[in-house]
Amino acid sequence: MEALAALLRLLLWLAVVASSHAQQRPRCRRQCGNVTVPYPFGIGAGCHHGATANGFRLRCDARRRRLTVAGYGHVVAAISVPKAEATVLLNASRACYDRPSGRVVGRREKPMALNGSAFLFSSMKSKFVSIGCPGLSYFFDGGGDYVTGCMSVCRPSERALPGSCRGDDGCCQSTIPLGLDSYHPRLGSFRARGQETTFLENSTACSYAFMVDAMWFWLAGARFNRTGDFAVPVILDWAIRDAPGCAAARRDAGTYACRSAHAVCLESSNGPGYICNCTDGYEGNPYVTDGCSDVNECERRDEFLCYGVCINTPGSFICTCPKGSSGNATTWLPPRHQVHHSTQGSVSVGVFMLLLVCFSAHVWLQKRRLLRAKQRFFEQNGGLLLHQQLGTLASTGVAFSIFSEEEISRATDGFAEARVLGRGGHGVVYKGVLPDGSAVAVKRSMTVDARQVREFAREMLILSQINHRHVVKLVGCCLEVEVPMLVYEYVPNGNLSSQIHGGGVLLPPAARLRVAAESADALAYMHSSASPPILHRDVKSANILLDGDLAAKVADLGASRLAPAGEAAAVATMVQGTLGYLDPEYLLTCQLTSKSDVYSFAVVVLELLTGRKAFVPVEDEEEDEEGSLAFWFLAAAHEGRHREIMDRRVGEELGVEVIDEAAELVVQCLSMAGEDRPTMKDVADKLQRLSSRAHE
Ligand SMILES: *[C@@H]1O[C@H](CO)[C@@H](O)[C@H](O)[C@H]1NC(C)=O
Ligand SMILES: *[C@@H]1O[C@H](CO)[C@@H](O)[C@H](O)[C@H]1NC(C)=O
Ligand SMILES: *[C@@H]1O[C@H](CO)[C@@H](O)[C@H](O)[C@H]1NC(C)=O
Ligand SMILES: *[C@@H]1O[C@H](CO)[C@@H](O)[C@H](O)[C@H]1NC(C)=O
Ligand SMILES: *[C@@H]1O[C@H](CO)[C@@H](O)[C@H](O)[C@H]1NC(C)=O
Ligand SMILES: *[C@@H]1O[C@H](CO)[C@@H](O)[C@H](O)[C@H]1NC(C)=O
Ligand SMILES: *[C@@H]1O[C@H](CO)[C@@H](O)[C@H](O)[C@H]1NC(C)=O
Ligand SMILES: *[C@@H]1O[C@H](CO)[C@@H](O)[C@H](O)[C@H]1NC(C)=O
Repeated sequence: MEALAALLRLLLWLAVVASSHAQQRPRCRRQCGNVTVPYPFGIGAGCHHGATANGFRLRCDARRRRLTVAGYGHVVAAISVPKAEATVLLNASRACYDRPSGRVVGRREKPMALNGSAFLFSSMKSKFVSIGCPGLSYFFDGGGDYVTGCMSVCRPSERALPGSCRGDDGCCQSTIPLGLDSYHPRLGSFRARGQETTFLENSTACSYAFMVDAMWFWLAGARFNRTGDFAVPVILDWAIRDAPGCAAARRDAGTYACRSAHAVCLESSNGPGYICNCTDGYEGNPYVTDGCSDVNECERRDEFLCYGVCINTPGSFICTCPKGSSGNATTWLPPRHQVHHSTQGSVSVGVFMLLLVCFSAHVWLQKRRLLRAKQRFFEQNGGLLLHQQLGTLASTGVAFSIFSEEEISRATDGFAEARVLGRGGHGVVYKGVLPDGSAVAVKRSMTVDARQVREFAREMLILSQINHRHVVKLVGCCLEVEVPMLVYEYVPNGNLSSQIHGGGVLLPPAARLRVAAESADALAYMHSSASPPILHRDVKSANILLDGDLAAKVADLGASRLAPAGEAAAVATMVQGTLGYLDPEYLLTCQLTSKSDVYSFAVVVLELLTGRKAFVPVEDEEEDEEGSLAFWFLAAAHEGRHREIMDRRVGEELGVEVIDEAAELVVQCLSMAGEDRPTMKDVADKLQRLSSRAHE
């Protein structure tokens, strides 16, 4: 009996030893076709890290020279250990249409599920792209929640640059969030609507949607007019995800994946877990015992500069000046020879002096260039704008404070997660409490991105020109150069979107028209107060806040811009805006006008009246109907069914006459041609009249 137990123990020990040394088993294949398979990946049982179906186990179909992820089937094209990335192939989703009826004749929607594996879609290097037009493409995650999408239309091609993908050129793109583990695409269109013939001109036979390696897509250039199937590479981030991070992983030496003596543990930058890397001066595979080996820097002089004598050392190298000279051998400066009193010596000194003069001139020029670049960068970042603006604000006597970063940090509890009021495209908004007890909202840019800094500067400029009781007030800012922050009055009742769609109970049906009228008034003021007008550019229910008396406050003017003075100055930037609110004419013409705000605002009014979201992703594959509230409403109104889709309680409170008139106003505002839409002032007046008739 005891012998049996001993035998069992021995077997167990052998099994443990065998599994912990699995990586070193010589019989593991490390190549499939032309793809190298480094540990922690492996082909077959016992050759990879961790459990069976965690993404590290691969399958090699030798006949087809195809490497796939076991249990998932995704085709792997490349794996990088130092970057902790893998490239897999994804078949593009496709919807093809019969022309001119616009009926779908072929639809293949190709999802990609990564849940339960070590992989996540790389939000840095991959993006969501749709080509073909007109199209409305988007995707869900594994839980069936809408993630993101984009909309494309066909504009005359001569204005589209090769390789661009801006939404108006038959191609659109969208960034993807961190932590995304599943992708379920949907392809929609607005082809079937007879009255919108402008959209059908130059339309492509098929629309495609896919996740793709952003760099690959950029290099490949979009080819829009395709009809066949094709696959694209998509970059995934992988990490060891059986521990939440490095600290926890190190505690269990048995499963800690960073095996090499010269390995460092790094926290995963996408999702939970950690990755390993060789320390500086070493390279190889940190997941394997003795996997990281010394880099011989002396053999790679172009990477590791050394103009003198190079000696390799473990993890580093020594670079010295040749015997008889001194100086810094890692910089390109002629070595300073010890001067000999000979003719040869003075010649070399002369040459040396000449070289030195040239070199100094070169350095001086470089420095000047650098200074100028810095200056330009500062101007680009809106630094000058901010400073000028501060002067103006001070002179107008507006109560405006400049906060230090420390003051703001204290007011927001060190930017505590519990203080987050909302997240927008332009930053995170925190609730803050100033020492005097007053509440403020602090908007902080999430990244130190030049574009965002510029947007902050712009928002400050715009807000300083607007003083309206239905526009959120700016009370101060924090001018730490790197991450500017804006401080607003605190608006206690949150955004309109959560009131309409989040089960909010504060806004009674009869108050909805009043809120609409107030917001319209604020936008009309923006459009008329300055010349050229100030456009909001991102009107949506999430950007309208409600104060303590449930009065509207228009917020988030970060995307706002002074409209171009002349027709010629088209705002030909990448199409901005939120799916569902985006003015289709803007997509077609790239001309942003005050009528674009009118269109977006009409969608907000529709949300208020119908209680439906501006964009409802269509989950039913068979349904050939895109999820845009505006298009849907127009189709219903066209057939005289607009009363049916109103929120029942709103309909009862307002009465059919008010509903009919409001619907008519919305139809006008949603006209495809901007010139057919009323002005914001007309909209505000009309809503004001309707609202007073509805008397809350
Ligand atoms: C691997 O082979 C495929 C075709 O079999 C080829 O398209 C690809 O470029 C090759 N990759 C490398 C890295 O050689
Ligand atoms: C790992 O180290 C290499 C070489 O130092 C570096 O190029 C690479 O970016 C590092 N990887 C990560 C994920 O930091
Ligand atoms: C992707 O398309 C190729 C042909 O282009 C096909 O052989 C393959 O089976 C497709 N993969 C999936 C997962 O549909
Ligand atoms: C991935 O998610 C789907 C549904 O969301 C589920 O059916 C499947 O079992 C999950 N796979 C893993 C490996 O967790
Ligand atoms: C269609 O393309 C032609 C030629 O490229 C162009 O002249 C025309 O304006 C385009 N139509 C639309 C609606 O973009
Ligand atoms: C797209 O290609 C088809 C044939 O492949 C052609 O008939 C059609 O005119 C093309 N459309 C555009 C907009 O170039
Ligand atoms: C030599 O120059 C390099 C780069 O300019 C610098 O990093 C290094 O510290 C210098 N070494 C010595 C010994 O001055
Ligand atoms: C709107 O309010 C809800 C609830 O307060 C919040 O979760 C959401 O992030 C807000 N949206 C924006 C864009 O601020």
